[in-house]
Amino acid sequence: MNDLLPSLNLATWIWIALAPPAFIVLMAGWDPVGRIGGRGFGMRVEIRLAWFIVELPALATFPLIYASSGNFHLVGNVVVVLWLAHYGHRTLVWPWLVPNKGTTVPFTMVAMALFFNGVTGGLIGWFMGYVADYGESWLSDPRFVAGLAVMFAGAALNVWADYRLLRLRKASPGQRVLPRGGAFEYMACPNLAGEILEWFGFALLTWSFPGLAFAIWTVANLAPRAVWRRNQYRESFADFPKGRAALIPKVW
Ligand SMILES: NC(=O)c1ccc[n+]([C@@H]2O[C@H](COP(=O)([O-])OP(=O)(O)OC[C@H]3O[C@@H](n4cnc5c(N)ncnc54)[C@H](OP(=O)(O)O)[C@@H]3O)[C@@H](O)[C@H]2O)c1
Repeated sequence: MNDLLPSLNLATWIWIALAPPAFIVLMAGWDPVGRIGGRGFGMRVEIRLAWFIVELPALATFPLIYASSGNFHLVGNVVVVLWLAHYGHRTLVWPWLVPNKGTTVPFTMVAMALFFNGVTGGLIGWFMGYVADYGESWLSDPRFVAGLAVMFAGAALNVWADYRLLRLRKASPGQRVLPRGGAFEYMACPNLAGEILEWFGFALLTWSFPGLAFAIWTVANLAPRAVWRRNQYRESFADFPKGRAALIPKVW
């Protein structure tokens, strides 16, 4: 067994243990970071700058740790490319497209997201660079193939829904609009459902504990936001179907 595996597992367990309290706090409606309708605490940061700053550690940490390990392997290289595709878009493209220019987010959100992205990238980099021991046959293993399919499906849903929301916002500046069509007919937040699916696909294709931790944390972060957003739609739009799910059609 790799000498570093027990300490990586311990660090990952500690990280996972923090997710349920975060989920409970947000579901209970306490909003220290201003993600579910509250204002959060601390000075305000311009939204585009905030997105760029908080996503940068996610973009950089895993690839840098992997590269500095010197332990390049085919599976690690493929996974880094997948990671860079997601976080390249999220860090270098998305912040400049979020159209509500001039709005701000609380510093607490920036600080928490920085920490979250740094730890996530750090654990995955540690795993991929210093612990992972895949054979090249892993790329045809059913877990890798199924995980890749789930990750792509989640990413497609996430990007499609995010850009549909952005187009709606541009078409009706300053207003909250009820999104319609496609996956929006089945759930309030297909963008967040897609993100969750994407990272469960990543956990499956890497078959890694840090990957699973990231997927669990994504649920803790995004599920309360989806419920909040669905409740907003219920309150604001009389024609919003009462039984429409937040994230999982017909279930939740
Ligand atoms: N992996 C993770 O843990 C994690 C954490 C956070 C975010 N993310 C990802 O980052 C992306 C953005 O997240 P988010 O929470 O900001 O998504 P969001 O709440 O759906 O908002 C995305 C953008 O669309 C606008 N928007 C949303 N609903 C709208 C509506 N009904 N009418 C008009 N405009 C609307 C928002 O405006 P407002 O700003 O005015 O609401 C914002 O500009 C998503 O893809 C998400 O999955 C991932």
